[in-house]
Amino acid sequence: MKENTLTITDNRTGKTYSIPIQNGAIRCADLRQIRTGEDDLGLVSYDPGFLNTASCQSRITYIDGDKGILNYRGYPIEQLAEKSTFVETAYLIIHGELPNPKQLEDWIYNITHHTIIHRNIEKFIDGFHYDAHPMGMLVSAVAALSTFYPDAHNIMDPNSRKLQTYRLLAKMPTLAAFAYRHSIGMPYAYPDNDLDYTGNFLNMLFKKTELKYKPDPVLERALDVLFILHADHEQNCSTNAMRNVGSSHVDPYSATAAAAAALYGPLHGGANEAVLRMLTEIGTKDKIPAFIEGVKRGEGRLMGFGHRVYKNYDPRARIIKRMADEVFQVTGKNPLIEIALELERIALEEEYFIKRRLYPNVDFYSGLIYQAMGFPITIFPVLFAIPRTAGWVAQWIEMVGDQEQKIARPRQIYLGRDRRDYVPMSERTQSI
Ligand code: CMC
Repeated sequence: MKENTLTITDNRTGKTYSIPIQNGAIRCADLRQIRTGEDDLGLVSYDPGFLNTASCQSRITYIDGDKGILNYRGYPIEQLAEKSTFVETAYLIIHGELPNPKQLEDWIYNITHHTIIHRNIEKFIDGFHYDAHPMGMLVSAVAALSTFYPDAHNIMDPNSRKLQTYRLLAKMPTLAAFAYRHSIGMPYAYPDNDLDYTGNFLNMLFKKTELKYKPDPVLERALDVLFILHADHEQNCSTNAMRNVGSSHVDPYSATAAAAAALYGPLHGGANEAVLRMLTEIGTKDKIPAFIEGVKRGEGRLMGFGHRVYKNYDPRARIIKRMADEVFQVTGKNPLIEIALELERIALEEEYFIKRRLYPNVDFYSGLIYQAMGFPITIFPVLFAIPRTAGWVAQWIEMVGDQEQKIARPRQIYLGRDRRDYVPMSERTQSI
């Protein structure tokens, strides 16, 4: 159709090109025909940080950043947070539809029966230094799983993919909990199949000498909702890492380790930890104006604020902020909430934040809840990685089955030196 094309005139040559537009996008490969001559390799698009580049076509998660909308497989996040469970949501994200009762029963059974990890993985975790960050341990331990399951290399086999999916979803909480127990010198607590996914995770984290750990239902549900909210977020940094590394056809454990490593960074999943440190450092409300002034002068960022896609309130932050009250009724109020609320109030009235459309993101309030629930700060990014594994796996499966996907291999714009001859040491005079 004539209207579904883009006409480009190259003013260097005067030539005009017609490029098809499909689903609101042009294919960058179509730009390569735009050349100034025989030696020209063709026009490329330059987009550091992928500000305006779609790396795939996906049917999993939809975000409208201006309107603050987040849907998984078409279902609004608000409805899932209210009515679903994390395990059901994980099924939805990975399979595309909500499960029927039998499908859900099988799904839960399979995930529940893969929670144990090999004794040698325990020994592997044992080897970490006492003050190793739990996220560093998780990244390494999930990579190590690839050596225990060589069948995972058969990524084109749907049955193998299914099995690795069960294992990944089931073992991530176990690895995370064991990493935490190691960091505090506690013996590992083994999975309890009588408990639900989130309750069992709390059991593996917090069980002491009692014969049976009973999670508080309010806190268990709150954590489950937090898991739902973190399950997927389309092509974010860690998901892009999962797809990027997975595009080499490596096994999913290695790709998940890469994704978890990306999540660890303070600009991504490490932000919830950074928020808590920031709030603690501010300490009292009267210090907020000076802190904000520092941010405006570029002396640091207001962690938990801003987002590449959301230019409005992050819908997940809205749900978490509401949920904080329920959690605090059980745990007692986290005193840092007052600082967070005041920080948000002042920031949202400031020209600096308004102009840049910076709003609280998912990480701004989640850490306050985690802390009130008794989680140490270093485990916050781990609490992000567990549910995001559902998203990573879903995106990886979609990528593996996508006929258009190739190994990720971007181009570059070379600005370095032209070819030159090697200079013997005796002739080198220039200072470095
Ligand atoms: N505090 C102060 N200024 C900010 C912030 C912030 N949190 N975020 C962005 N800006 C400013 C930035 O300095 C820039 O200003 P200028 O145009 O004057 O140079 C402008 O806003 C645009 O920022 P950007 O860095 O170009 O935006 P981006 O889309 O590349 O970055 C972000 C997005 C999330 C990395 C960034 O907003 C940030 O660093 N936020 C704090 C860290 C954080 O909370 N991360 C969690 C994100 S949500 C969950 C997740 O992804 O895991």
